[in-house]
Amino acid sequence: MRSKIILWCAAVLLIAVCAGKLSAETEKPAQGKTAVVYFSQTGNTRAACEVLAKELSADIFELKVAKPPAAKGQLPEIEPSWIDLSPYSFIVVASPIWAANLVSAVQAFLKNNPLEGRKAVILTTTNVPMPEEFQNKHKQLVADAGGNLAGYYQVVVQEQKEGKAVARTQDDIRSDAKAIAGGIKTLM
Ligand SMILES: Cc1cc2nc3c(=O)[nH]c(=O)nc-3n(C[C@H](O)[C@H](O)[C@H](O)COP(=O)(O)O)c2cc1C
Repeated sequence: MRSKIILWCAAVLLIAVCAGKLSAETEKPAQGKTAVVYFSQTGNTRAACEVLAKELSADIFELKVAKPPAAKGQLPEIEPSWIDLSPYSFIVVASPIWAANLVSAVQAFLKNNPLEGRKAVILTTTNVPMPEEFQNKHKQLVADAGGNLAGYYQVVVQEQKEGKAVARTQDDIRSDAKAIAGGIKTLM
């Protein structure tokens, strides 16, 4: 009789432990990875993105122009033209500002790669901060790609010294990017 009771208690305990484990597993939020996708011509955006990727433990993808646009107003062919975003739940879309817009290679990425509701942030490097009306145009490109925009960050790469615009160093850019990574972490 005593051994039956012990066996019964052990079975109840086992069921309780299994049920607890199961509920802990089902309650665990889906853990997606982070991707940093960028274009850079002169290295500023690359410097910022390398810091972001390290700080956010993200995978990093550099876009290159494979074939320039055939006509004005068209987008270039890019390499890679498509990125398998299935492992990623958070995307950093990073671009230099050219003519107040995201560069066409980044626009092509957004056109070719549906973000399907993933959380995204935009990071730009720019000589001067973009006014809100331009930022809104950039945000719309991410929204059009199906991204759920969570933040917009700018690294300003020029400063005024004695009335002249001078380039900030890549160390300055890296230090700004580190601070931005801290902000992005709060959105994830
Ligand atoms: C063709 C071209 C157009 C640019 N247009 C702008 C602009 O409209 N506004 C601005 O603030 N900076 C502008 N810039 C400056 C770049 O945004 C800035 O230098 C950026 O950090 C470059 O990034 P990268 O080094 O990753 O290529 C332009 C630069 C180039 C080369």
